[in-house]
Amino acid sequence: MLKAVLFDLDGVITDTAKFHFLAWRDLGAELGIIVDEAFNEELKGVSRMDSLERILAYGGLADKYSLAEKEAFCTKKNDHYLELIKEMTPADILPGILPLLEELREAGLKTIITSASKNAPGILALLQVKDYFDGIVDPASVAAGKPAPDIFLAGAELAGVQPAECIGVEDAASGVDAIKAANITAIAIGDAAVLGHADRVLTDTSDLALAVLRDTWELAV
Ligand code: BG6
Ligand code: MG
Repeated sequence: MLKAVLFDLDGVITDTAKFHFLAWRDLGAELGIIVDEAFNEELKGVSRMDSLERILAYGGLADKYSLAEKEAFCTKKNDHYLELIKEMTPADILPGILPLLEELREAGLKTIITSASKNAPGILALLQVKDYFDGIVDPASVAAGKPAPDIFLAGAELAGVQPAECIGVEDAASGVDAIKAANITAIAIGDAAVLGHADRVLTDTSDLALAVLRDTWELAV
């Protein structure tokens, strides 16, 4: 039986990708690296430090900076990001998410946030949806980030169920990889050309509903 839903945050609950992009683009510009929207796609689902490492490698500066310098760049990017998201409100919840959360609560399924973002608790508070979730996996508590399965395995554990009793919802290729590596059924939101390795791809969050999750899970197991 399907018992828990493991939710990515950025791009699933709310669209923060544009703010991550603006903050990385400006930091990149300071370092002389052009971060365009196409390259930014590769950063979706990737942790803050791993994103910086990818940007530096992309700009041919992989070995130029010390760890302390890189940590300072990450802090600078995050301060800018926090400034950009501070006006977020419940109006920024993506379509279909609130009705789905209501349905899941009614049906007694567990709901867990499995996001790479250290800002997840703050964003859920701004969106006023914290109470809909039974737990948030701390991304700092897992050994390896997406595409490794760790965060989704930790999500199943936090829900108190087996991975096979879960479905994961993601918008990033690295996130779908992570769900599948955890032997969990994956539902993806976005472009099927990028996310075709999920068990089902929906173009929009407004297509999400408990019946769709159950149907996808039953066909996959
Ligand atoms: C992911 C985003 O959810 O979280 C990435 O898709 C981001 O773009 C990552 O880099 C880490 O987020 P944060 O908020 O901890 O910098
Ligand atoms: Mg995402």
